[in-house]
Amino acid sequence: MNKHDFPILQQTKNGKPLVYLDSSATSQKPQVVIDALRHYYEHTNANIHRGVYELSERATKLYENTRENIKNFINAKKSSEIIFVRGATEAINLVADTYGRINIKENDEIIISTMEHHSNIVPWKLLCEKVGAKLRVISISDSGEMDLDQYQKLFSAHTKLVAIAHASNVLGTINPIKTMIKIAHEHNAKILIDGAQAFPHLSIDVQDLDCDFYVFSAHKAYGPTGVGVLYGKEELLEKMPPYQGGGSMIETVSFEKITYAKSPAKFEAGTPDIGGVIAFNAALNYLKNIGMQNIMQHEQDLLKDATQKLSEFPELKLIGTAKEKLGVISFVLKDIHPHDVGTILAHDNIAVRAGHHCAMPLMQRFNVPAMVRVSFGLYNDKTDIDALLVGLHNTQRLFA
Ligand code: ALA
Repeated sequence: MNKHDFPILQQTKNGKPLVYLDSSATSQKPQVVIDALRHYYEHTNANIHRGVYELSERATKLYENTRENIKNFINAKKSSEIIFVRGATEAINLVADTYGRINIKENDEIIISTMEHHSNIVPWKLLCEKVGAKLRVISISDSGEMDLDQYQKLFSAHTKLVAIAHASNVLGTINPIKTMIKIAHEHNAKILIDGAQAFPHLSIDVQDLDCDFYVFSAHKAYGPTGVGVLYGKEELLEKMPPYQGGGSMIETVSFEKITYAKSPAKFEAGTPDIGGVIAFNAALNYLKNIGMQNIMQHEQDLLKDATQKLSEFPELKLIGTAKEKLGVISFVLKDIHPHDVGTILAHDNIAVRAGHHCAMPLMQRFNVPAMVRVSFGLYNDKTDIDALLVGLHNTQRLFA
């Protein structure tokens, strides 16, 4: 599907095509995104929200167009609920630092899950250490699904916030977030959804979900690196103090008193990645043109085909077999170290991720130091799965 739109996928090594199976780490970029970035620097580059000249006005308009497009893409109520940051990691840190600073106190509790990426663990742990709060952790089943009964039991009068992944970067599990959001609200807790993995693959409707915060990164969704998005409900953002101080985020400054701009400007100190934000709009339009439903269907077909073939592969153990999954498959092969598997596949020009996947507690849950992970993007097809199987047979032969 659409492989020809991605120039990087046209390259070969020793006559072998690039088989890119690491889209959960970062996606490749279609020509339209590369063109938009180049066009910006060739024709529009100027600082935004400052200049009175035409170039700056044009850059500002294009930058704000992306915000409006994201608002529509995830069905937020207002574009002021969309804040540009550097990535999903920074978005979570922003909420931990600002929402956390005024709302989480000593002995309060924050619920996260065993399958979180470090970016949805460390900021909360840092906050807990700072204010004397505690982390509570949702267990997961052997197939990699949230234990919803135990989740319910984790709530107490001290629970202030829940922070969970929409989908796991390792197991691929798509979590039942709508139910989990409802449960959090029944306990008067706010909830942040880490959508870094889910956003490029699923349709997101933040009003229907009713989440308080939703975060994602542009680079996993066919856009440039260096751009992330924090969605937050307006009533929460209004009450949150600023994150970083600097230009653009103020109304007035004197040495005696500073008054702050409203969201989103309040959270966007300094010059952002203007070109990256503008080029991300091209990625969003590219996704819209294909249709999120079509992308989902295509990736589900690949997931089904690859899961079946890998489950029949001798001495390969799949880790993460939830009913609802993204196109992400992790496994261990025999007693071959995942780094060796990844390195040997790389000789065949096959790119997978091997390691702890920034999810060390999850590795401990499955009692392995590392895993091999294959993850699909919209450009993958069945030839990629066939090449992977040949590569795995080659690996196994080397270790026979
Ligand atoms: N979060 C990215 C991954 O899972 C880097 O690979």
